[in-house]
Amino acid sequence: MKNLDPDGWVRAMGFLDPLADLGQRLVGAGLRRGGAPASSAKNLLNGPWLGHPLHPALTDIPIGAWTGAALLDLAGEERAADLLMAAGCAAGVAAAASGIADWQDSYGHERRMGALHGILNLSALAMLTGAVALRASGRRAAGRPLGRLGLGLALGAAYFGGELVFRQGTQVNRNAFTEGPSDWTPAVLESEVQEGVMTTCQIGGAKVVVTRVAGQVCAAGNVCPHAGGPLSEGRLEGEVVTCPWHGSKFDLRTGRVLWGPATTPIPTYEVRPGAGGVIEVRTR
Ligand code: FES
Repeated sequence: MKNLDPDGWVRAMGFLDPLADLGQRLVGAGLRRGGAPASSAKNLLNGPWLGHPLHPALTDIPIGAWTGAALLDLAGEERAADLLMAAGCAAGVAAAASGIADWQDSYGHERRMGALHGILNLSALAMLTGAVALRASGRRAAGRPLGRLGLGLALGAAYFGGELVFRQGTQVNRNAFTEGPSDWTPAVLESEVQEGVMTTCQIGGAKVVVTRVAGQVCAAGNVCPHAGGPLSEGRLEGEVVTCPWHGSKFDLRTGRVLWGPATTPIPTYEVRPGAGGVIEVRTR
């Protein structure tokens, strides 16, 4: 049996790119117009406060509600199905908002696949909302097939969501498979480590950035967990580094995410002065 090739299908859908351009421009303009409240809302929707992206957690709710509603319909519990379907639509709006917040910072092939995923989901949400309205107005015979079509489309969209995460690695922590040194290991010359300057080195597979904050040497991972941006090429203000790619902020002393779209902390390392004026590090 031949494997499905969703990646190949999406590579043939070049027509999605102008739509994706337009969508990202509109969302970007909305964020600029909304100023700090809009960018705080985006940060909330990305999910740094949750420790991983909010979107996949929210998407389970509408799909579960709509599936439950279809089953209740089959069991003849139409009033309960109405309620569940409407609840699914409300949760679907939140899931869509979080998905758009994540997609805004995507590019290339994953942006195109995300656009397809989003278009299918928004179409499903529109159909299911229409089905809720038809059922509420007593036209159940028309609302029922529209709702099932919407559920089918939502499940198709979920397939492309899985493709985005498990094949494209979208929103997967870029440091998940990086092992830092477990023993003290020479990193950089202490004389090179200055306030406001990020000195880099590589230890095994771990890319490390070393700096001095309020006189104390600190070392952290140099790879942004969001999409792999090189943090040492970003802006450093005190202990806070801003990723040059999409603006995530991290505390270099603790690794904590201060601002999304990144949602997982960067690794941090213990430091000590070694022989010959070298700073040694090991995984904290
Ligand atoms: S790579 Fe996207 S914020 Fe760093």
